[in-house]
Amino acid sequence: MHTIIEPFRIKSVEPIYFTTREQRELILRSAFHNPFFIHSKDVLIDLLTDSGTSAMSSNQWAAVMLGDESYAGSPSFFKFENAVKDITGMPLVIPTHQGRAAEKIIFSILGSKGKYFLSNTLFDTTRANIEFSGAEGIDLVCEEGKHPSIPAPFKGNMDLEALRREIIRLGAEHIPMVIVTITNNSGGGQPVSMENIRATSKICAEFGIPMFIDACRFAENAYFIKLREEGYADKPVYDIVREMFSYADGCTMSAKKDAFANIGGFLAMRDADLALHCRNLLIITEGFPTYGGLAGRDLEAVAVGLYEVMDEHYLRYRIRTTEYLTEKLIAAGVPVMQPAGGHAVYLDAKAFLPHIPIEAYPGQALACALYLEGGIRGVEIGSLMFGKYDADHQLIPAALELVRLAIPRRVYTQSHIDYVAEVIIGVFEKRRDIRGLRIVEEAPMLRHFTAKLEQID
Ligand code: F0G
Repeated sequence: MHTIIEPFRIKSVEPIYFTTREQRELILRSAFHNPFFIHSKDVLIDLLTDSGTSAMSSNQWAAVMLGDESYAGSPSFFKFENAVKDITGMPLVIPTHQGRAAEKIIFSILGSKGKYFLSNTLFDTTRANIEFSGAEGIDLVCEEGKHPSIPAPFKGNMDLEALRREIIRLGAEHIPMVIVTITNNSGGGQPVSMENIRATSKICAEFGIPMFIDACRFAENAYFIKLREEGYADKPVYDIVREMFSYADGCTMSAKKDAFANIGGFLAMRDADLALHCRNLLIITEGFPTYGGLAGRDLEAVAVGLYEVMDEHYLRYRIRTTEYLTEKLIAAGVPVMQPAGGHAVYLDAKAFLPHIPIEAYPGQALACALYLEGGIRGVEIGSLMFGKYDADHQLIPAALELVRLAIPRRVYTQSHIDYVAEVIIGVFEKRRDIRGLRIVEEAPMLRHFTAKLEQID
């Protein structure tokens, strides 16, 4: 078989900036060992996120020029609305400036103290919006999803038995919604099978609970279904996508991922009453219902991107990228989540740095080491992001200690990925020298964004 190549050629390029190790040492210290504080000009390969970092296509840029900036009833909105309706099959579409704005609206309406939202795994902003409403979020990922090194085809699946048990324990009347995150970002970018989406939806229907999809990476999930689930190999991704959404009552979406947009998002749903509530809240937070916090040109870019992402040459290259990096790391003995996720490679920091206790944040220490070694920026997805404190201020750790290297869409080439593999393997060879960190300052919510840390001697 031939090499799977980047299915595009490059018309416009951006410079990346090189730094020395001495410079990075200083930069890391002045960023308080938190990569979120590093200026992007000081980063060589930026794998902090795949969100809003995509390269737009020439067709998207052409669509940008067609953006109609009318306050109400812009044709750009109707293109956006038609694309979302077509792909999700949902009749009611509400634009928002990004995914968390959609979350803020829906959870402000449905969440309050004494309410529970069940999910395979909630992303950090989703959980934060739920908790901000006074409600509680509960993650019920399947057993395979809890073991980074054991490969399984659908490690993002909901644990169906646990879902039923929790619904009965908490009472369906206290559960306004079940959320299926595709792919399961915090669980390693792992997909959810069609069978699991269908079964989750059936359980929800039995108890009269609406099921929503957090659809950020819907096309990547659909492609995994095509590759791995019986009966889907010959189905077009578009049909698989339609089927996934057919089981849901609604969805939240960040168009900064699988729509190749630099900004944007939406809510889509079937319930007119709920949509009315959402639109009312939208008007006081995001804007009029035909732009919802976006410029007309952004709506245009999303409408085009939503279709481009379902191109199977693109998806094949996309999924191959993470697989290729994962294979190289496995060959060198680096502990990495298996199989590769859709949008990112996840290093298992607990196994990578067994000498660093969880209380000293091995994931964060590893993320800093990758920057120091090769100017690569990743993000900790572990106890800094998800840890809580008990009554005695002792850390309640997250389930996994991971470092995520998220691959921006259509941005880096194979040689960039080869370089990333070399740097990680270099760090792995020197892993004994890496030291743990302690927090010196933190916010009460989403603390990983702004926490300041220092090295422990
Ligand atoms: N849901 C999931 C599964 C996400 O991954 C994200 C964002 C959101 C919701 C929120 O969307 O950023 O547009 O407000 N994830 C980014 C990331 C930030 O880096 O994984 P947003």
